[in-house]
Amino acid sequence: MSIVVYLGDAEETRDWIGLLSRLLPDHEIRDFDDPGDLSAVEYAVVWAPPQGGIARFAHLKAIVSIGAGVDHVLRDPDLPRHLPILRTTGPDMVQRLREYVALHVLAHHRALMVTDANQARGEWRQIVTPVAGRRRVGIMGLGNIASACARTLVGLGFDTAGWSRSGRAVEGVEVFAGAGGLAGFLARTEILVCLLPLTAETRDILDARLFAQLPEGARIINAGRGGHLVEDDLLAALGSGRIGGATLDVFRTEPLPADHPFWHHPKVRITPHIASMIDAETGASVIAANIRAFEATGTCEAMADPARGY
Ligand code: GLV
Repeated sequence: MSIVVYLGDAEETRDWIGLLSRLLPDHEIRDFDDPGDLSAVEYAVVWAPPQGGIARFAHLKAIVSIGAGVDHVLRDPDLPRHLPILRTTGPDMVQRLREYVALHVLAHHRALMVTDANQARGEWRQIVTPVAGRRRVGIMGLGNIASACARTLVGLGFDTAGWSRSGRAVEGVEVFAGAGGLAGFLARTEILVCLLPLTAETRDILDARLFAQLPEGARIINAGRGGHLVEDDLLAALGSGRIGGATLDVFRTEPLPADHPFWHHPKVRITPHIASMIDAETGASVIAANIRAFEATGTCEAMADPARGY
């Protein structure tokens, strides 16, 4: 019985195959593009697999997403919809996202982009920003990972709000729910952090209409998915000053094309989809544990709910 691995990068795929081979010695671990006997493949461990690729394996028991999100799997129109999808998450991933959110909220809060630009010009200019308690940060999404990030911001002293479909309560966080709560959430949010899953409802949510409801000069941090952001609307809003700056970890096309205007935009900081990226050793051990649990019980805690998008 075998497991195939796809990461889109041959060297990384080889590393993961080596790690998973040691952790799951009862399975043969193979490259998705060189799977051998198709009918022997029981699990496909994937990040953004090619369209139609998974449907080749008739006896697959489950798909394993190398990531908390599953949109990169569900986007395949030929995907066999009945297959369970196991997500890869856990304390390491949550901790990394907490670090990322804290780092970039603080960077916007303390006007780091302006200070960097001043340094580049050799200009000594002291910028006094409000203390965190007078800075209103808003997180879109309040699942387990996003709630942990909201609590981190509360811990740093920020005036923190959260918006989600269900409006689940998080201690210390002002919670706004559903379509009816969005306008109130946006009106008070100076630094907006998008951690939503990508679903039909959330696609293109970061657009000109949403930007118009934020305070003038608000900042955007997108560590959700590239599909949340209407990139041309952001460029226009940055140009007009409606949005004062953006930190983007995810893009409609990844890797971000070399000629994309975001690369050299003075108000955009780019990170290459690494906000919650775990090291291969940790990822492989989480995946091996999930596969073992699934083998033993036919289910596992990390099972995705496709309707929720994670
Ligand atoms: C990262 O983008 C993830 O889905 O975990």
